[in-house]
Amino acid sequence: MTNPSLLILPGDGIGPEVMTEVRKVIDWFGQRRGLAFDVEEDLVGGASWDAHGTPLTDAAMARAQAVDAVLLGAVGGPKYDDLDFADKPERGLLRLRKEMDLFANLRPAQCFDALADFSSLKREVVAGLDIMIVRELTSGIYFGEPRGIHSEGNERVGINTQRYTESEIIRVCRAAFELARKRSGKVCSMEKANVMESGILWREVAQTLRDAEYPDIELSHMYADNGAMQLVRWPKQFDVIVTDNLFGDILSDCAAMLTGSLGMLPSASLGAPMANGRPKALYEPVHGSAPDIAGQGKANPVACILSFAMALRYSFDARDDAARLERAIDTVLADGVRTADLMQSGDGTPASTAQMGDAVIRALEASL
Ligand code: IPM
Ligand code: MG
Repeated sequence: MTNPSLLILPGDGIGPEVMTEVRKVIDWFGQRRGLAFDVEEDLVGGASWDAHGTPLTDAAMARAQAVDAVLLGAVGGPKYDDLDFADKPERGLLRLRKEMDLFANLRPAQCFDALADFSSLKREVVAGLDIMIVRELTSGIYFGEPRGIHSEGNERVGINTQRYTESEIIRVCRAAFELARKRSGKVCSMEKANVMESGILWREVAQTLRDAEYPDIELSHMYADNGAMQLVRWPKQFDVIVTDNLFGDILSDCAAMLTGSLGMLPSASLGAPMANGRPKALYEPVHGSAPDIAGQGKANPVACILSFAMALRYSFDARDDAARLERAIDTVLADGVRTADLMQSGDGTPASTAQMGDAVIRALEASL
C-alpha cells in the first residue's frame, strides 16, 4: 500500500511560517501514529506569480487534482494590489476551488473555553459555541455570467450575476443535512428570498430535499441579513447553517469573530468522491495572509494545524487522530500558551509561531 498523498501550498504572507508548524504535526503523525503521508509542495498566489507570472500554474493545478488532499496556507498581499484582476493571488485559490469543484465549504466556528474572553461578545453568549457554516463555494455571484465592467453611454457599469441551478443547491444542502445528522440534526438555510429569485429557488429546493430524503432534519429558513443579526445576538441558537457563496463568505467571517480569534479557525472545502472514495478536498485556515506580521514568527499556526485535523477527519477517516490533535490544541491553550493574537496588553511575552507548534507536539506526545 502506498501512503496517502498531500499537496502543500504555503502561499503568501504568514502562510509559509504556519505551514512549517503543520509539517511538524504531519511528521509526528507519521512517526508516532503510523499515519505517513507522501507530501509534495508547490506555489500558489503571489508566490507563484513572483516565480512563474501566474497565481497558479497548470502543473500545480494538475498536482492538486491528482493528490488525496490539498493543504493551503494563505494568499495575497499589498505587493499584488495593482496586478490585473486575472493575475491577483486570490485567482489562484478561486481556480483551485472551481476546477476541483469543491462545492461544500465547511467552516466551523468553535469557541475554545480558554479563549471565551477574547470574543467581542459577552462570555455567556459565546462560551461553548460550536456551529458549522456550510458555504456553497463554486457558483453564485463569484462565478456567474455575465460579469465585467462595460461602458454604457458615457459611464461604466460593473456587473456580476447571482446564478444557482437546482442541482447546485441540492448538492450543498445534502452536504449540510448529512453533516447535521452527525450533530444535532438542526439546519438553518439562509438566503434573501424576499428580494432575490435565486433565494426563492434556494429555499424551495432546500425544503423539497429535506421533505423527500431528510425527514429527520429540522430545517428552518432565515433571511441572510437577519441571520447576521442573530449570529451576534445569540449564536448558540444555530447548529449547521447552509448558505450561498457570497452570504457564506460574509456570515462565516462574522461567525469566526464570535470565537475571539481568526487565528484559530480551520476550513474544509469538499467536492465529489474520487475513484478511491475520498472526496476532492482542500483544507485551509479561515484567516488571510496577514502581511503586516509575516516573517516575524508572530503568527498563530493553530488554524492551519486544525485544518490538518479536518483533513484527518474528512479525507483520511482518522477520526480518533483528528480528535487527538484537537484535544492537544485544547491542552496547549488551557496551559496558557498564547501567540500574540491571543493576548491582551500586559499579558507577558507571547509564544512564537514555532513555540506554539512545539507545544502542540509536546501535547501530542503526552497523549500517547
Ligand atoms: C474566503 C476569502 C476568499 C473568498 C478570497 C480570498 C477570494 O475571503 O475564503 O473567505 O472571498 O472566498
Ligand atoms: Mg472571506
